Amino acid sequence: MKILLLAGTYEARQIALRLGRDGRIDLTASLAGATRAPLPLDGAVRVGGFGGRQGQQDFMAAGGFDAVIDATHPFAHRISFRTHSICAALGVPYLQVLRPGWAATGADDWTFVADEAGVAAKVAANMTVFLATGPGSLAAIGQLPAARVLCRVIDAPEGPFPWENGAWRRGRPPFSVEDEVEFLRDEGVDLLVTKNAGGRGGWAKLEAARALGLPVVLIDRPPQPPGEKAESVETALDWIERL
Ligand SMILES: NC(=O)c1ccc[n+]([C@@H]2O[C@H](COP(=O)([O-])OP(=O)(O)OC[C@H]3O[C@@H](n4cnc5c(N)ncnc54)[C@H](OP(=O)(O)O)[C@@H]3O)[C@@H](O)[C@H]2O)c1
Repeated sequence: MKILLLAGTYEARQIALRLGRDGRIDLTASLAGATRAPLPLDGAVRVGGFGGRQGQQDFMAAGGFDAVIDATHPFAHRISFRTHSICAALGVPYLQVLRPGWAATGADDWTFVADEAGVAAKVAANMTVFLATGPGSLAAIGQLPAARVLCRVIDAPEGPFPWENGAWRRGRPPFSVEDEVEFLRDEGVDLLVTKNAGGRGGWAKLEAARALGLPVVLIDRPPQPPGEKAESVETALDWIERL
């Protein structure tokens, strides 16, 4: 059975680990190429964008895939909508792996905003703000009226920070709660901003903010395509087994 796995997440690596070693499966994993040295994946791996919708459709038709598992990030909604639509056109079964979002407890001081543009209204002029959103969100967030803005990046940034009040901080996940507490404390962070990505990978910073009593702004997820969903790796593997 030929499977195309759209990767770029922890769940994708786990699925690749299981399917890549299953003798019944011929797995191709696809990475966007967003990080310069991605963690290794099992199965055949292709890297880089498809060059738009037609390029992806041609790739998928030529590959003769029996099913597509879309395990991209919940905020990578453009590739998810497009893949769902191409699968419908080609008559190929499509499954989106979509982990549940995070939910606040009584111990958390969280504010939800509908999208990146809503962040600025939650920021005060004297704050040090930590953007754990990745650099790809800066343009949509827009310049913040804060004393200092820090943005974490995996790879060394190609240019200077786009705003005068900002600075990059290098770091490759996963981070422990202790790492995150130390970072937030050492940098004097007053406000954490993150996407509501869900999952275990990014949870440590929220646990750290809770421990320090820091407020958090969470950006809601964008709309997702219709179609079948799996909340976990196990559910996705069950779906393949049923096919
Ligand atoms: N957005 C986030 O917060 C976030 C966080 C962690 C990881 N990621 C991962 O980083 C990648 C890019 O995210 P994004 O938000 O830029 O996505 P996006 O806006 O939905 O897609 C942008 C473009 O990236 C290419 N692309 C995305 N995923 C791909 C994949 N798995 N294989 C091949 N090409 C892919 C496609 O390029 P072409 O048009 O050239 O085909 C697509 O048009 C995703 O795979 C996602 O899982 C994203």
